[in-house]
Amino acid sequence: MFIVFEGIDGAGKSTQARLLYEWFRENGYEVVLTKEPTDTAFGRLIRRLVLMGGKEGIIDGAKISPDSEALLFAADRAEHVHRLIEPSLREGKTVISDRYFYSSLAYQWARGLDLQWLIDLNRFAPRADLVVLLDLPVEESVKRLRGRKVKSEFDRIVELQRKVRNNYIKLMERFPEIRIVNALQDERRVHEEVVSLVERVMKAGSSGDGVST
Ligand code: TYD
Repeated sequence: MFIVFEGIDGAGKSTQARLLYEWFRENGYEVVLTKEPTDTAFGRLIRRLVLMGGKEGIIDGAKISPDSEALLFAADRAEHVHRLIEPSLREGKTVISDRYFYSSLAYQWARGLDLQWLIDLNRFAPRADLVVLLDLPVEESVKRLRGRKVKSEFDRIVELQRKVRNNYIKLMERFPEIRIVNALQDERRVHEEVVSLVERVMKAGSSGDGVST
């Protein structure tokens, strides 16, 4: 089974990914916990070029274009898919990823790129069985992030997050594996909802029905 956590910054993806990872382990499954951007050389390049300084990547004094951003995320993902995700799934392991190509669709679309181009660019990446969209209002995300990172150009980022949140919701139509969970609830409650979604998808998979929508 391949499970992805998505949502705007501050939604609690890494916490929930870890709780679910522990749940699988406690239930005797072999499970791999991973994330994007990855912790490889590609991921580090992305952090340096795209994410530093309030998300204003600079190469040789010029701002990196949204197209380059999308291509860098896709390159990082290609390595992630070929080296870790596909081999693990082939070995029968469950894979949990904190962000995946759905992030590229939501964020790079919000940056003004064409959605269909982004979908085509990421076609090499297999779809997940379940995408947990941790949804929360942007105002709450801002509050949570304030204690975490120093952000410049805060208003622009708020506006970007708002677009990203809407984009995720729009993507649900096209990608029915995306299931929304209210991330305003306390951590345990969110985890319980995630587990019940996982159990439903597992049941559907074992009876050959596929993911119900
Ligand atoms: P984040 O999950 O915050 O990573 P970390 O906490 O390890 O730095 O992701 C970094 C940012 O990258 C986040 O704002 C979303 C953005 N992002 C994209 O714009 N496109 C993508 O394809 C991915 C994977 C992330």
